[in-house]
Amino acid sequence: MTLLVLGGAGMLGRAFAGLGRSELRSLRREDFELGHSDPFELLERQRPQLVINCAAYTEVDKAEAEPERAHLVNAAAVGKLAEACQSVGSGLIHFSTDYVFDGSANVPYEPDAPKRPINVYGQTKSDGEDLALQSGAELLIVRTSWVFAPWGRNFVRTMGELLRTRPEVRVVADQVGCPTYAPDLAARALALYESNVRGVAHVTNGPPVSWYEFAVAIQEAQGSDAQIIPVPSADFPRPAPRPHYSVLSSTSGRGIGEALPDFRKHLPAALGL
Ligand SMILES: NC(=O)c1ccc[n+]([C@@H]2O[C@H](COP(=O)([O-])OP(=O)(O)OC[C@H]3O[C@@H](n4cnc5c(N)ncnc54)[C@H](OP(=O)(O)O)[C@@H]3O)[C@@H](O)[C@H]2O)c1
Repeated sequence: MTLLVLGGAGMLGRAFAGLGRSELRSLRREDFELGHSDPFELLERQRPQLVINCAAYTEVDKAEAEPERAHLVNAAAVGKLAEACQSVGSGLIHFSTDYVFDGSANVPYEPDAPKRPINVYGQTKSDGEDLALQSGAELLIVRTSWVFAPWGRNFVRTMGELLRTRPEVRVVADQVGCPTYAPDLAARALALYESNVRGVAHVTNGPPVSWYEFAVAIQEAQGSDAQIIPVPSADFPRPAPRPHYSVLSSTSGRGIGEALPDFRKHLPAALGL
């Protein structure tokens, strides 16, 4: 199957390139810009069997100040991309987020749970899902959360550095989610698509932890004497509110592959140990 990855330089885009699929082409933002480049022209020229959209406006706090830009990239352009896929007969894997939910639940969110985003980023990602679904394309939307990898900007690498260099680190303890390793996510998303799963699926490693517990696991993996202090979100006011509980009920492990491994297994690789 010929695969065309958009957003190939991002954290997840790089994970797809690492899967070792020979018929995969990867485009960076300079090659194809969502909201600017024409997806019909691209797909008519390249005719991939499957488009994998890893490109997105991912700056959650900045989105509060530029909602139009975030909407263009995460929603309008995704709708247009899906229409182009439908028109040329390419399949589409698109990625979305746990932040489409408000976090008021206390059991994991199922793929069909009602959405209620509480920040601009979540709203634009939710709108992008809806537009993609309306296109009639052969489509798999994969929602995921708290993604990390040995590359790119992510919590594991940032926290690893802080714990190595500071005596004390304060970490939010009242937001709970499922950490997800980008290479596992890429492989599983593709396996789900190739098993004919369509619509909305959830893929995470887990188990659910707070950011504080995530930091403790990172410290256990790399060793350090830093003191980790649990604090409430209110101690770290940010432009975009975050859901308190955004655990996704994972589609994997229910007849389609094993559940993905505990995220802790991948911490040494992500930390470069
Ligand atoms: N990271 C997470 O924790 C997380 C959690 C839930 C869901 N997701 C979803 O997972 C997917 C992949 O995210 P990621 O973690 O790989 O994010 P990432 O590392 O920020 O990668 C996103 C990529 O998209 C590119 N991009 C931004 N605007 C673009 C545009 N208009 N046209 C083309 N490319 C553009 C970025 O380029 P520049 O660097 O040049 O801007 C970057 O290379 C996204 O759909 C995201 O919403 C991520």
